[in-house]
Amino acid sequence: MNRIGDYEGNLLNHIEALYRPGERDLALALVEALGCSVSDTGFSGDGPESFLAIHPNPADPDIRNNAFYISPMRPEQQALEASLARLASDDEELRAALEGYRGAARTLPFGVSHFGLRYASEDALVAAVDKVRETLSERLGGRLHVRVFDPRQGERSGAQVVQAFVYQDVIVSGSFTYGQLIELQGQPH
Ligand SMILES: [Fe+2]
Repeated sequence: MNRIGDYEGNLLNHIEALYRPGERDLALALVEALGCSVSDTGFSGDGPESFLAIHPNPADPDIRNNAFYISPMRPEQQALEASLARLASDDEELRAALEGYRGAARTLPFGVSHFGLRYASEDALVAAVDKVRETLSERLGGRLHVRVFDPRQGERSGAQVVQAFVYQDVIVSGSFTYGQLIELQGQPH
């Protein structure tokens, strides 16, 4: 099977994700560092910028399948995120809970919600990890954390494959306050 659109069974076909208003270029830099290609769908819904389809397999840029979409966070979520930030700055318990969650996401990501990208080889995964670090570490500072688990090194891992967890708050399919983990898996053939 060379084209995902040729597959006739049911499959998980897309993830809807967001970036912060004003951070479209930053979101593009992240997906490009991850090795994905980008199609502009031309559809903007009720938002000010078009939805971009992000393709983990640049050789098969199917806009409907095997893609995640990014578009700007809508006003309703902006209001919610602003309220959470305000409450967290005033409430020590909430602030501590958020820090606890973020600490777990950085160090023990297996039970923290995320989505995953498969790479065709371990080398391809390592190249993506290196590029994310090279191109975004300085720009994002504390907003980016990358953790690599290699089962051959005796590390606690959920699978017999090399996994890298990229924790960031540039692209989320949920809450910018919580941040988003993206798992990268290198699966040998
Ligand atoms: Fe996972």
